[in-house]
Amino acid sequence: LPAARDRLRIAIQKSGRLSEPARALLASCGLSWRESRDRLFCYGESLPVDLLLVRDDDIPGLIADGVCDLGIVGRNVLAEQGSQRIDDAGSVKYREWRALGFGACRLDIAVPDSWEWSGSAQLRGKRIATSYPALLGAWLREQDVVADVVPLSGSVEIAPRLGQADAICDLVSSGATLAANQLKPVLTLLQSEAVLAGPAVPFVDAREELAALLLRRLDGVLRLKD
Ligand code: PRP
Ligand code: ZN
Ligand code: MG
Repeated sequence: LPAARDRLRIAIQKSGRLSEPARALLASCGLSWRESRDRLFCYGESLPVDLLLVRDDDIPGLIADGVCDLGIVGRNVLAEQGSQRIDDAGSVKYREWRALGFGACRLDIAVPDSWEWSGSAQLRGKRIATSYPALLGAWLREQDVVADVVPLSGSVEIAPRLGQADAICDLVSSGATLAANQLKPVLTLLQSEAVLAGPAVPFVDAREELAALLLRRLDGVLRLKD
């Protein structure tokens, strides 16, 4: 069992679309931090709630391993890694505690503008580039479509122009990246937004009360935003 802790540690994205709104949301819950020089760890001052600034893709693993207690991350990242982060009983070690109302995007299949889209069967035998191989693979199996999944960690939208793939499966927010690469969205696999993620089981120490306090404040802030 991990050692009892009396401070809560929240992982957020170091730099990217979710980092500023995540910090702002936590600040509006009354949290404040003393910056450390490298700024990867922010020591909580108003409450014993510290921030860890990390790559968003690392957040599910940090929670699953108990290195961090909570995280603010896209639902897409949680869903993609869910099948890898299971306990001995086969359940996912973390869950979505709250949807946070920012960072909305979709995980879409997109195809070249020139295609006349007729449905998912059109993807049979095609190469699909994605940073979401688990979600795409599960969806293809569900659709009974056998296709070639080409895993890429970024710049997925350029793969069709490079001849590396026929179609893509990636996040779409404004749609500007798709349009700039002569691609059009044809199907949505997942509606995503930033979420607060936490363990699937309660804390057994002082963190439980801290987490409950944070959730009460967060719910108040989220209610005001509606
Ligand atoms: C995301 C996503 C797309 C782009 C879509 O990448 O992977 O590339 O944003 O946004 P748009 O529809 O508004 O153009 P991001 O810039 O967040 O970088 P990352 O993939 O490195 O996280
Ligand atoms: Zn990322
Ligand atoms: Mg991207």
